[in-house]
Amino acid sequence: MSDFYKKLIENNKKWVQNKLSQDPEFFKNLSKKHNPPLLWIGCADSRVPANEITGTSPGEVFVHRNIANMVVHTDMNMLSVLDYAVNTLKIEHIIVCGHYGCGGIKAATEKGKNNLTDNWIRHIKDVYRLHFDELENITKKQERLDRFVELNVMEQVYHLAKTSIVQRAWRSDRKLSLHGWVYGLTTGLIKDLNVTVQNNTELKEIYHN
Ligand code: CO
Repeated sequence: MSDFYKKLIENNKKWVQNKLSQDPEFFKNLSKKHNPPLLWIGCADSRVPANEITGTSPGEVFVHRNIANMVVHTDMNMLSVLDYAVNTLKIEHIIVCGHYGCGGIKAATEKGKNNLTDNWIRHIKDVYRLHFDELENITKKQERLDRFVELNVMEQVYHLAKTSIVQRAWRSDRKLSLHGWVYGLTTGLIKDLNVTVQNNTELKEIYHN
């Protein structure tokens, strides 16, 4: 494992050769434009690589990942990615993709460890508090965690809808749809939570801009 990193550049050379053997113009064409149709907000978990699990190629998915695929409206990193995706790249779909077996979600159900990450995990704990009754009524721990994963994704979709960036896009009649998905680590399959949000109708008025 310690020398794992040494292989990476060798792997890269092989990958380049492979791509060029299929299409000698692959990199030349890819470098000419950046026009991905969607933004992916996913977990940083190494087992959930956006392109690989969706069968997409370089150039097709604009990606932002963090612990537990959170949309925190004061997070300049997320906001900058969102702003660029919506206002420059003009993407029309944003997918928040969580995953069952998420370590960040599990950590949010446990006591903090007094480290920096606790501050991030707190955002996830707030989601638990919002759905406290439903989650506490699920007796099986695994089922409760799985439901927490789903509710967290839905909540992040609504957080996206409340951002000034998405609100402005909708106000100027831009087509922009937000979707919530959950990936299964043990199956490899994606579940669509059917929480597609395309306008303000599902948001409390206080969040409308
Ligand atoms: Co995760």
